[in-house]
Amino acid sequence: MIIRKKFENVNIGDFGFRTLAFCDWSELQKTRRELLKDHTCPKIFSTKFQQLDTFINEETNHMLHLISTFHNKPVAFKPFLLHTLNQGYSVDFMPWMLPFYRRHFNQFHKWTKYIRNFMAPIVNERYCTWKPGKKNYDYIDTLIRTIRRKEDKEINLEIAMFSLEDVIGGHSAIANFLMKVFAYIAVRPEIQMRIREEIKSVTKEMRNVRLTDRRSMPFTEAVILETIRLIASPIVPHVASQDSSIAGYKIRKGTLIFLNNYELNYSPELWENPEEFYPERFLIDGYLVKPDHFFPFSSGRRSCIGYKMVQLLSFSIVSLTLQKFQIKPVEGCSYEVPVGNLALSYDTFKFQFIP
Ligand code: HEM
Repeated sequence: MIIRKKFENVNIGDFGFRTLAFCDWSELQKTRRELLKDHTCPKIFSTKFQQLDTFINEETNHMLHLISTFHNKPVAFKPFLLHTLNQGYSVDFMPWMLPFYRRHFNQFHKWTKYIRNFMAPIVNERYCTWKPGKKNYDYIDTLIRTIRRKEDKEINLEIAMFSLEDVIGGHSAIANFLMKVFAYIAVRPEIQMRIREEIKSVTKEMRNVRLTDRRSMPFTEAVILETIRLIASPIVPHVASQDSSIAGYKIRKGTLIFLNNYELNYSPELWENPEEFYPERFLIDGYLVKPDHFFPFSSGRRSCIGYKMVQLLSFSIVSLTLQKFQIKPVEGCSYEVPVGNLALSYDTFKFQFIP
């Protein structure tokens, strides 16, 4: 069995290490996961699913409207999706490198304070005005209800703030991921054309793409999976919770374990031409198929809790954008997507959006 390394033991203060991803396993973390799961994995046709669909449509259309005001000029797209904090430095995974990152962490501290100052009044206001019987509209409601009804003695306002920051971190991950999808397809017009064909076949050019169209657009889904494979997101280090062995190697309890997602996603023994961007590898007879050795969000009880959000949001934003625009590379820009990196810099990849 594998648990998470206790990162708080390495004394790196409050730089996000009370977030779910870096906490050891406990009853508290289990509850935090349960509370969040309700919101990040909405069941198809449920009210939350419908809400999400409406919300993505409204937000994406607003963003696309702003982009149309650039009139085919190159657009630095990332600020439209999100600003980001996490740049995917080695210290994120090897905390003993902290002394080399002092300056960066001071800056990081300022940004986390900025986010906290932005969120605190919103959460406080919702906390003070909460009334029994209030419907759980969003994740903040869920957290506040848990605290006010004392459903879990360990969850308090401070933990709630950290729990919300998990989601902010996750959304930054999606924005970065989307930039990478756009970088791959900007230089592959034939892929865009195939996605657009799927869009036309489901919408008949009469309406916007909806989340429920996902199942009828396997090629678009395959493009998203192929990007997830190629970016080979690093997996948070784990720790063996008991003596064990892997392939004959003894693993002592307490050993720090890194799962090599790069090897899983790029091994020539597992994939044909692994370096190539080839979404068709996820399709058999037109149906989407995920090989058993593909688990980009890890697996087990510490797996990524936002994986469904990644799939739903990426699908909608990519298809809604391609429904309105062709994405073109800007002359002189490189579209090489970095591998094994979490976040791209603020001014990365510019695109032209041609109606
Ligand atoms: C492309 C985007 C994303 C990728 C590639 C990704 C990948 C991962 C991976 C590999 C892990 C580590 C799993 C493990 O150690 O076993 C993880 C953990 C986690 N992810 Fe994501 N993730 C993404 C987006 C998100 C989003 C959108 C959210 C939230 C809405 C999120 C929330 C989390 C949380 C809370 C954990 C820690 C879970 C735990 O330790 O219990 N992620 N993610």
